[in-house]
Amino acid sequence: MKSRYDNEMELHFLSKSSNEAFARITVAAFAAQLDPTIEELADIKTAVSEAVTNSIIHGYENTEGIVKLKATLLDNVVEIEVSDNGKGIEDVELARKPLYTTKGNLERSGMGFTIMESFMDEVEIQSVVEIGTKVTMRKKIKKEVENEEGEELEETELTQENTLMNS
Ligand SMILES: Nc1ncnc2c1ncn2[C@@H]1O[C@H](COP(=O)(O)OP(=O)(O)OP(=O)(O)O)[C@@H](O)[C@H]1O
Ligand SMILES: [Mg+2]
Repeated sequence: MKSRYDNEMELHFLSKSSNEAFARITVAAFAAQLDPTIEELADIKTAVSEAVTNSIIHGYENTEGIVKLKATLLDNVVEIEVSDNGKGIEDVELARKPLYTTKGNLERSGMGFTIMESFMDEVEIQSVVEIGTKVTMRKKIKKEVENEEGEELEETELTQENTLMNS
């Protein structure tokens, strides 16, 4: 069967906090094919880390379950899905709000979804109570293009340079 993506991968792992680093490093290695900047890679790792941690501590509440991670590449967009078959979220809109947490006693700050939204271009949350939660995140990796001198510039910088030269 031909994939509709340029590349894709899937991982299933136990909901142990020791797997959080494994998940974020694996996605970063996979997304590296799009030639992201260090900052873009750091953003992806942070977002994956927040989503995976949520599945482990909220979805499964530290009981044993399977966390699924799927990543795809299409053109210069990386899409990452993190899902669990855990307890689910009652009110997704509320859960997205900054500082909202159901585990304030465990020193969670309620900033996970806000961080995912600020570091990725799109974040979708699908959740059903007692069935589970799926978080889908997308990020466009800005392509670097070469200017006449052969220096690598990001698209935005090149646009700025053209504007300066034409003005
Ligand atoms: N996978 C999940 N399963 C069940 N509930 C979830 C899941 N992910 C998030 N939630 C719920 O959404 C709330 C908000 O999540 P968010 O990541 O923004 O904050 P937090 O995890 O409580 O705190 P922080 O991420 O700052 O440590 C959580 O407190 C929890 O109630
Ligand atoms: Mg969180």
